[in-house]
Amino acid sequence: MDMISGIRDRAAHGERQGAAGPDDRPLLSEELQRQFSLKGRTAVVTGAAGGIGRQAALTFTEAGADVVLADVGEEGLEQTAKLVEAAGGRALVVPTDVGDRAAVNALAVAAVKAHGRLDVWANVAGIIRNSLIVDATPEDVEAVTRVNLWGTYWGIAAAGRAMRNGGSIINVSSAGGEMPAPTLSIYAMTKAGINHLTRCAATELGPKNIRVNAIAPGFTDTPMVQRNWTRPDGTVDEDARDALLEVRAAQSPLHLTATPEDQTWAMLYLASDASRFVTGQVLRPNGGVVMA
Ligand SMILES: NC(=O)c1ccc[n+]([C@@H]2O[C@H](COP(=O)([O-])OP(=O)(O)OC[C@H]3O[C@@H](n4cnc5c(N)ncnc54)[C@H](O)[C@@H]3O)[C@@H](O)[C@H]2O)c1
Repeated sequence: MDMISGIRDRAAHGERQGAAGPDDRPLLSEELQRQFSLKGRTAVVTGAAGGIGRQAALTFTEAGADVVLADVGEEGLEQTAKLVEAAGGRALVVPTDVGDRAAVNALAVAAVKAHGRLDVWANVAGIIRNSLIVDATPEDVEAVTRVNLWGTYWGIAAAGRAMRNGGSIINVSSAGGEMPAPTLSIYAMTKAGINHLTRCAATELGPKNIRVNAIAPGFTDTPMVQRNWTRPDGTVDEDARDALLEVRAAQSPLHLTATPEDQTWAMLYLASDASRFVTGQVLRPNGGVVMA
């Protein structure tokens, strides 16, 4: 037996080097469960009608939180709420346009009214429009800025006011915010803005024990990217999909495309007490396409 197969063999039998018998430790120690638990906490998730936002709601539910789901996509919100309830959780649906400051304030008020507290706020809602700078319209620039940048800004402001016992705000940026590429300028500038907004907010809210961090995902299989290979009639152009996935995976040393869960494990870390000493940071679940 070669060395690698031997290690695999021992691992498959639950044995550790130097240990005589099977490993009867629990899957996670009680201390690890405590550190990553969101039990008894309330988490607002914007962009919760699909993609990373829906998965964040499910991951936070699995960790024990009550979730408040916000999005402009009301049908998708109801579907997410059903998934949360099927997972044993409680979901409050609050249809919200994150570009509307008053609506975002009302979302925070609704969360506190329903659960008496607000602990986690994830600004996930986002849109993308590809255009060369010389061709971009004011409407393109305004639409993307309004959702991605203002939406995150109003979210931080509302959460910062509503969190009474400390908390964690998680913004969703993008690898695009640090990786220049043609046609990405509008989206990229909003995501670069989110990175620095995250740091500024961390300095203001830290004294209230509110941590503010961001994740900057790499290419993740969600409706946002699936639109690139979905035909107007809803069918999948498999050649276009395979070609784009290959290009994106080739940019990663790991040669991987992310699932929404790859993003929400990182979000859970930032939401939980396990990251109590972490603020003003941009965490990069991106397969290594940008390293900093
Ligand atoms: N998928 C990727 O490869 C990728 C990579 C980097 C960053 N991101 C970021 O992740 C976040 C989630 O994107 P996703 O991939 O899940 O895409 P998605 O399109 O599946 O989800 C985005 C959600 O935002 C919602 N939304 C749009 N405008 C809104 C508004 N005004 N108010 C409230 N909700 C609104 C949409 O209805 C949708 O449910 C976005 O901020 C996106 O920029 C995604």
